[in-house]
Amino acid sequence: MPSQYLVKNVLKEITAKLNPIIPRASREAHLLLMAHLECDELWIITNQNTQIKGIDKLFEWVERRAKNEPFEYITKRVSFYSEEFYIAQGALIPRPETELLIDEVIKNVINPHPEGTSSHSLTANAEMTFVEVGVGSGIISIMLAKHFPHAKIIAVDISQDALEIAKINIAKFSLEDRIELRLGSLLEPISEHVDYLVSNPPYIANDANLESNLSYEPQNALFGGSVGDEIIRELLNEVLKRKINLFTCEIGYDQQDRIKDYLKKEEYKNLNFYKDLSDFDRGFTLRL
Ligand SMILES: C[S@@+](CC[C@H](N)C(=O)[O-])C[C@H]1O[C@@H](n2cnc3c(N)ncnc32)[C@H](O)[C@@H]1O
Repeated sequence: MPSQYLVKNVLKEITAKLNPIIPRASREAHLLLMAHLECDELWIITNQNTQIKGIDKLFEWVERRAKNEPFEYITKRVSFYSEEFYIAQGALIPRPETELLIDEVIKNVINPHPEGTSSHSLTANAEMTFVEVGVGSGIISIMLAKHFPHAKIIAVDISQDALEIAKINIAKFSLEDRIELRLGSLLEPISEHVDYLVSNPPYIANDANLESNLSYEPQNALFGGSVGDEIIRELLNEVLKRKINLFTCEIGYDQQDRIKDYLKKEEYKNLNFYKDLSDFDRGFTLRL
């Protein structure tokens, strides 16, 4: 095998190919090589003069990355809440801020009676029914199933491709008996009583100008309508109509006022917004 396939030389070549297009190209080169060899950073550092096999596949990945295809779709892996999930182009790549939605749900289940409210009681061990609308790759439903071992979870998506990806992840975590997938829109496929509705719906306005790498993600996972919050409003209507006690939903940083206005005339005991690590509004919990 020629010496250009030594780790140190391959890293240089990948960095040079990515450099004009991808910020922090040298870091990306390390990450691509680590994913390709299924090794860690320490191995790369201590094996600079080792020959690499399967170089064609690695350089095919580099070509795709040079076209700005997201790293996660290329390697088919994504980290979320300290777990590794399968990911492919039919589902949105999980975002770190969605981990906050999981924390928010856990907080609400463990502390179901904030001062001044009288919500019904749920505990981590309760046999409650969660419904997730817009399951995508399955990350939210899977993390909730892991945190609440006695909960039943019904997860809905309008995209068959997303459901196929969620199915792979559910099997990876052996949660087939706990999470039921259903194809359909919003709460249409749900006739059962719902204790807790969760959703990270599409909430970007249809005409928003987005970065080019977002074009690889499913458009119905990103765009929520001409204003952006249309699906959130439809979910709120369902929550009020079906009298669902708890609803936690991720939102865009500028959507708080419109959600408050929409709910103004409705009966609710508690509407709490939570922020992300950059101090932007990122979601809310509505407690009826
Ligand atoms: C922002 S992604 C969230 C995916 C995943 N839950 C996550 O947090 O990474 C929104 C998901 O909602 C789905 N979706 C869009 N419109 C829907 C609808 N009307 N009913 C059900 N799911 C819908 C999309 O297919 C997509 O999988």
